[in-house]
Amino acid sequence: MKIAYVQMEPLFLEPERNYSRAEELIREAADRGAELIVLPELFDTGYNFESREEVEEVAGEIPDGPTTEFLMELSRELGVFLVAGTAEKDEKGRLYNSAVVTGPIGSSYIGKYRKVHLFHRERLFFSPGDLGFRVFNTGTAKIGVMICFDWFFPESARTLALKGAEVIAHPSNLVMPYAPRAMPIRALENRVYTITANRVGEERGLRFIGKSTIASPRAEVLAMGSEDSEEVGVVDVDLSVARDKRLNDINHIFRDRRPEFYSL
Ligand code: ACM
Repeated sequence: MKIAYVQMEPLFLEPERNYSRAEELIREAADRGAELIVLPELFDTGYNFESREEVEEVAGEIPDGPTTEFLMELSRELGVFLVAGTAEKDEKGRLYNSAVVTGPIGSSYIGKYRKVHLFHRERLFFSPGDLGFRVFNTGTAKIGVMICFDWFFPESARTLALKGAEVIAHPSNLVMPYAPRAMPIRALENRVYTITANRVGEERGLRFIGKSTIASPRAEVLAMGSEDSEEVGVVDVDLSVARDKRLNDINHIFRDRRPEFYSL
């Protein structure tokens, strides 16, 4: 299966422009054979909000909002699965830092995830995710989703892997330098593939680090983006490696766990 990240520079509070730039990059990934394409966190709106009103201006419902509509249409037309970060407003007006999953099957809407671990000033605008960590079985792959700062908590990737994820889609807006080094270890300790789709550029003085990363269950970096350019990374992966949790002829990384010693 070919999997991909789209590394892009969203323009702040300009969703229409961001849809068209994302579309160009998604088409490039699909032309290169990608079947699962991951976009950054908040790819449609930008990240560095100053007020709740700013978020409200651009947040949409999922699935009944323009961003999900945009992703569904492209998924259907190109025959690809998409995972992309967006600001969600629910029916009660609560805001979430969410990700949408769409695909070329059924209605095209597959599901959503709401970021569990909010980073820094996100807490001023967004409610913490209340849906837990979710794995979407698309028939082709079992896709787990987490967003950016979730990586800092190994429990996020572990929970997704224990729930059966073979690939972890990780829309991001990274500002600290560590995740490109840490994600191959998340992939190794859970024997999954990980796709971190990060953004580039600067917003109100906040610089994003790029370096989108696809990592393998053997901790290999299969693709890594630059620090400052928009680009697409596409890699062919063998999901059977992620399904096999045996480390050698004796050790099995899930069956060897000793959860009775993990609680405080
Ligand atoms: C982050 O969670 N966007 C750093």
